Amino acid sequence: MTQKYAVTVAGGGSTFTPGIVLMLLKESSRFPIRKIMLYDNDPGRQKVIAEACGIYLRENAPEIEFGYTDDPREAFTEIDFVLAHIRVGKYAMREKDEKIPLKYGVVGQETCGPGGIAYGMRSIGGVLEILDYMEAYSPEAWMLNYSNPAAIVAEATHRLRPKSKILNICDMPIDLEEKMAGIAGLKSRKEMQVGYYGLNHFGWWHQIYDKAGNDLMPVIRAYIAENGFPVSAEQHVDDSWAHTFKMAREVYAIDPETIPNTYLKYYLFPYEIAAGLDPEYTRANEVIDGREKKIFSVCREIIEKGTSSGSGFEADAHATYIVDLARAIAENTLERFLLIVPNEGAIENFERSAMVEIPCIVGKNGYEKICQGRIPRFQKGMMEQQVSVEKLVVDAWIEGSYQKLWQALTLSKTVPSAAVAKIILDEFIQANQGYWPELT
Ligand code: NAD
Ligand code: LMR
Repeated sequence: MTQKYAVTVAGGGSTFTPGIVLMLLKESSRFPIRKIMLYDNDPGRQKVIAEACGIYLRENAPEIEFGYTDDPREAFTEIDFVLAHIRVGKYAMREKDEKIPLKYGVVGQETCGPGGIAYGMRSIGGVLEILDYMEAYSPEAWMLNYSNPAAIVAEATHRLRPKSKILNICDMPIDLEEKMAGIAGLKSRKEMQVGYYGLNHFGWWHQIYDKAGNDLMPVIRAYIAENGFPVSAEQHVDDSWAHTFKMAREVYAIDPETIPNTYLKYYLFPYEIAAGLDPEYTRANEVIDGREKKIFSVCREIIEKGTSSGSGFEADAHATYIVDLARAIAENTLERFLLIVPNEGAIENFERSAMVEIPCIVGKNGYEKICQGRIPRFQKGMMEQQVSVEKLVVDAWIEGSYQKLWQALTLSKTVPSAAVAKIILDEFIQANQGYWPELT
């Protein structure tokens, strides 16, 4: 008999949950599911999403056991995988992450610069807590984590839970690889073999081949030099994203040998980006007024009507990488993924203990890294600065150190001076009371 898997979605109240649940159903011939459990520490928020998912599942896959809870024992007992997408502090805190730096002309973004640092200080504890619950109640399970800010979370989990079964992965390179496959005339990113190095939201493709070994870099480079990345119809569709994809052209121009991750725009053009943002209406507001409103109103409608038919509930086609990753472990498929893993020589001329984003082969026993060799001076210089920011944040969280966090903010390429870093830090401390450890 084929094995069927039990999956817990941590952050059950996330706007991404319905799309993930439907995607799991759609992919169930590749990855059979026996149970889906939602877990969230905000039961009120989760109830709306979960009740709607429950109705959908009853109507479309009654054989799958489904439940939702805020009780860790119930959520994490006898499961095989945890899919973690939590946002500690939710959108109310994302808004502050973005708006506080912008008051001082500094990039306000949830994962890059000061916003990502503030968010990281909140996320570390939340992700560790879920990892600990999983290990207590299902020691054999694996956690697939795509909670942000992934770089800081990966550094913290590696340092504080080095033996844990956690894979940290990001969907941005996946979206960009889909776009590049399209540019090269391929149907899917799976028809490409890539070389990539960097930190999360801070990396570069340096090789792209098709399955026959033909070099696709020239055609992709020519396209990006002219247009940036194309905008897709389904994912990352808002205007702010269209700007990001287009701006890849300017980011690319700085090093035409490699293809950059889109998030590099925040580090390479911090002042230009900040000047173009509205300090009163940031990405958090865009998501609150857009995706969040839409998903919650669809869920409420399903609950009111008692049926999901005609609701427009959709599977998140771009999240199928999560099933690919879970299958890689469950079925030892040895597929390649970009993961955030300890360097230990994979990038030869870069700090061994850094958490880097590189291609890995994933199977039953975890991952094997694919060496990326030596990297150029420009990327190495940028990465050294940024990895120091990330390490100092984790130091600050562990030690409760104001000094280290001030150093982290000062070192961020997006912050102009130690004085501005201090002003932002002091406001962040006020805003994050109850979320951050106390800093002395
Ligand atoms: P959201 O606010 O809609 O949902 C997050 C949920 O997490 C909320 O319901 C919240 O109550 C819950 N939560 C917060 N702290 C928790 C804790 N300690 N334990 C359990 N649940 C907790 O947020 P969202 O926009 O859906 O984003 C969720 C996460 O996914 C974020 O970290 C976001 O950055 C990340 N994300 C990752 C990727 C990626 O591929 N790396 C892509 C998009 C979003
Ligand atoms: C974004 O800003 O688009 C990302 O944080 C993911 C999302 O849609 O919230």
